[in-house]
Amino acid sequence: MAATTSIHGMWTSRMAFILAASGSAVGLGNVWRFPYTAGEYGGGAFVLVYLLCVGAIGIPIMMAEIMLGRRGRQSPINTMRTLAQREGRHPAWQLMGWMGILTGFLILSFYSVIAGWTMAYAVRSASGVFVGIDRAGSDAIFGALVGDAERLLAWHTIFMALCVFVVARGVASGLEKSVRFLMPALFLLLVLMVAYAFSTGSFAEGARYLFAPDFDALSAEGVLSAMGQAFFSLSLGMGAIMIYGSYLRSDASIGASSLIIAGMDTLVAILAGLAIFPILFANGMQPEQGPGLVFKVLPIAFGNMPGGVLFSTLFFVLLMLAAWTSGISLLEPMVAWLVENRSFSRVRATVLAGMSVWLLGIACLLSLNQWSDVTIFGKGFLDLLDFLTANILLPVGGLLIAIFAGWMLSRAASADELAMGKGFAYRAWRVLIRYVSPAAVAFVLFHAIGLF
Ligand code: PHE
Repeated sequence: MAATTSIHGMWTSRMAFILAASGSAVGLGNVWRFPYTAGEYGGGAFVLVYLLCVGAIGIPIMMAEIMLGRRGRQSPINTMRTLAQREGRHPAWQLMGWMGILTGFLILSFYSVIAGWTMAYAVRSASGVFVGIDRAGSDAIFGALVGDAERLLAWHTIFMALCVFVVARGVASGLEKSVRFLMPALFLLLVLMVAYAFSTGSFAEGARYLFAPDFDALSAEGVLSAMGQAFFSLSLGMGAIMIYGSYLRSDASIGASSLIIAGMDTLVAILAGLAIFPILFANGMQPEQGPGLVFKVLPIAFGNMPGGVLFSTLFFVLLMLAAWTSGISLLEPMVAWLVENRSFSRVRATVLAGMSVWLLGIACLLSLNQWSDVTIFGKGFLDLLDFLTANILLPVGGLLIAIFAGWMLSRAASADELAMGKGFAYRAWRVLIRYVSPAAVAFVLFHAIGLF
């Protein structure tokens, strides 16, 4: 008999789960990572592949993750152990949980550094340094921040402390309340930015860049990155959505929730793209700016619009809050495991996990300045972790989840948990999770081997 609740607490409603999972999904991945990777790989064709991946791979895998989490009701490692045992499968399946925890650890270490940038930018916005700024000024401000290891360390420390604070108190209390106002506010500000972008006169050019596919610009690495971006942005492949699913009530619909979460996440990414690319073209900038893209482009727009000080402060504060609700979900799986298996108190487990992530984050932030000439596979440490986690570890995790949910778990079990009836919706999910998603992920990963 499956447990009907989790020892770590439960969401109070299905709505609370949707908010929390959207809080996990919507974050730096949408506003920071999506535009800069789309810019790196030529725009339209990348975006098209990304959207295809969200629909054909992301949504079915999100359903699978929530389903497995809710059936196991524990940290991803113990959930996978329990489910493998119950289904008579090899105990090695729990390694998938371990891999997820490692991946979350690696992602959070650099995610926290970038979240630090948003806080630094909120302070700069409020102090008015962006007013009337031009391209050169914006570049200089970004360069000065990234070059200053001590400042980065201070912000990184604050961000990790914030994540530890919430996770230590338990995800269900606190998190629910904050996401409820945060998501609509971020959404409104993005709409405002799109409206501003519309007034620049380069809106059509930006939209064309984003939506007109030019397949010549798309390399094998571009396809891999589009798929990786889908996993990263939807928080899939490392157990974050799985553990959130383990706090979901048994009677809530998984299919409908997944559609809403994926829909919101994608909408936010598209809005961010529609805001950023027109402003970029209006200022004669190039899309290939790397990770600094959003931080270099947006201040120019804010600096030249009425009310810009207020709007830009709000924007970066909201972005930081969005990063916070994602950071929490990256930390939760390892904390739950420490509580379950090491019988740590939640506070002790969170502090320990947070401190380890913090340490690795220091290597990430130093790779931007002091250690900028140290490269591995031609990339700095932060860039390497970003590439490796999003493009390799998350897709591999997602592939394993699809195989487990589609082939290892009995049909009766998934039909029971998804509770979609035996009609078209369930059958479509089963075809996607058994054939389409694993084949697509494996194919793209396989082709990418040639890149290394
Ligand atoms: N989805 C988050 C974002 O877009 C990042 C994330 C990745 C969170 C993986 C959890 C797990 O910012």
